[in-house]
Amino acid sequence: MSPRITRKLAQLPLLFLCPRSTTATAITSVPIRTFGIRSLNPPKENRFNAGPGLPVLKSTPTAALERKAYTLPLRTGAVAIKKGMTAIFDTETGQRVACTVLQLDRVEVVSHKTVEKHGYFAVQVGAGWKHPSNITKSLLGHFSANGISPKRHVYEFRVKDGRGLLPVGQAITADWFQEGQYVDTRSNSKGKGFAGVMKRHGFHGQDRSHGVSLTHRSLGSAGPSQGGGSRVYPGKKMAGNMGNEQNTVQNLKVLKVDPANGIVVVKGAVSGPRGCVVRLQDAIKKPWPEVKPPTESAA
Ligand SMILES: *[C@@H]1O[C@H](CO)[C@@H](O)[C@H](O)[C@H]1NC(C)=O
Repeated sequence: MSPRITRKLAQLPLLFLCPRSTTATAITSVPIRTFGIRSLNPPKENRFNAGPGLPVLKSTPTAALERKAYTLPLRTGAVAIKKGMTAIFDTETGQRVACTVLQLDRVEVVSHKTVEKHGYFAVQVGAGWKHPSNITKSLLGHFSANGISPKRHVYEFRVKDGRGLLPVGQAITADWFQEGQYVDTRSNSKGKGFAGVMKRHGFHGQDRSHGVSLTHRSLGSAGPSQGGGSRVYPGKKMAGNMGNEQNTVQNLKVLKVDPANGIVVVKGAVSGPRGCVVRLQDAIKKPWPEVKPPTESAA
């Protein structure tokens, strides 16, 4: 007796008679491997920029700049010195608000970065003053070529386009920022030196007793042994230098501006000790402050 075909199978159309499109639906874009050990979790399709109607991302510098432009501020920022913290009382609610006092000291535009020459738009801003004998010749030449006195701190602020390039030599005073607007601040956090895992990463440490000997604050095992690779995985949290790394605090409200003394008071805390350098720029996650376009107001 010949083997009988089940009813279900008999109903299916023969594959080689089907038009190509219906057979192709079964095949995903991931090639199915016919050799080796089959993985239980086969590689997924690329979930980035895949699908109909999505623009194809280009890897050219111009395309990268266009994508980046959405997240770049229109105006340059300023370099300030953290003077310390205090508190002011909100006149409406009577609430005490902790705030940070920042001071702008002889902040001037030193030079520009343009897309034609450097590949991006940025304003180089300097602050403070340094004795010319204490500056390298090359940096001194850079300052004198632009007609600027030597600056102690020099930083770049990226801007969206050419309209954000303030003229070289233009002073940036505290009233560059409006009361009520929001700023992002960048500064280095306080350095803590070489710190153990409990302080640096919040590990629990080991028991005080139960036979634990001299390793109460150490990390314990650093990884699996045979079977897990017999190695320490990349990114393993260990003891090391803590702090003194750049930290950005976003969306700080400007509470007070005093252009005569170069003071900008922002709500809340800014990373770093008193006297550290803080970079202030319009917050990218809040609406831009309502001011004239920078190049117009400068003229
Ligand atoms: C140069 O810098 C050093 C170290 O900061 C400082 O002690 C010295 O006074 C500076 N020299 C001048 C001429 O300002």
